[in-house]
Amino acid sequence: MVITLDGPAAAGKSTVARRLAGRLGVRYLDTGAMYRAVTHEALRSGVDMDDPEQLARLARRTRIELRPDGRGLRVFCEGRDVTDEIRSPEVTANIYRVADRPEVRQALRARQREFARRCDLVAEGRDQGTEVFPDAEVKFFLDASLEERARRRQRDLRADGCEAALDEVMAQVARRDARDSSRPVGALRRLDDMVLIDSTKMAVDEVVEAMVAEIERRGLMPGRT
Ligand code: DC
Repeated sequence: MVITLDGPAAAGKSTVARRLAGRLGVRYLDTGAMYRAVTHEALRSGVDMDDPEQLARLARRTRIELRPDGRGLRVFCEGRDVTDEIRSPEVTANIYRVADRPEVRQALRARQREFARRCDLVAEGRDQGTEVFPDAEVKFFLDASLEERARRRQRDLRADGCEAALDEVMAQVARRDARDSSRPVGALRRLDDMVLIDSTKMAVDEVVEAMVAEIERRGLMPGRT
């Protein structure tokens, strides 16, 4: 079984996906972490970031492991724990040079589908319900207003010791929205067969409960027949 979770930046996808996977007892596939890991490896190994073939080769060959631990996922690249490094500003600033490449996306899509052949999962990312798993059993689209998403991002930044003005963060999130929706491959799209959840006024637990209710309604709770 595959459950997909698409949506714009800072809507809370990762937190919700992790908790939902925990509730269902299935694996959580953090596809953003895969794009981050490849970007990190590209920067580390000094490949030419403008050469799509070299990047695609990295996307096909880099050993990436997503290992669940008590609180979330730890990300390993070539056997090394890079969980924190892949969140660095340098990786974030360079990620579109990798994630906008059709060759890279094709390679990572194949790896994501391979993952689904081995286990049930909640797959989270901007293109999971559209391009990677169009036939997933349940497809969610998690949204929230721009202002609320900016507030959440601001809170995350603050937790990392970084103060930023709300209107500045809002402008950043809006720029990311424009970029995510307009790119030629892997663009963020909401399809008619996705269940829209607007989390603007919802707590994380409420979002997860709404998703569980939808999965139950469809008779798809794992472990039940
Ligand atoms: O969810 P995140 O912020 O960790 O994702 C990091 C970046 O990876 C994000 O800026 C866009 C890209 N990404 C993507 O292009 N396709 C996905 N399925 C997931 C992430």
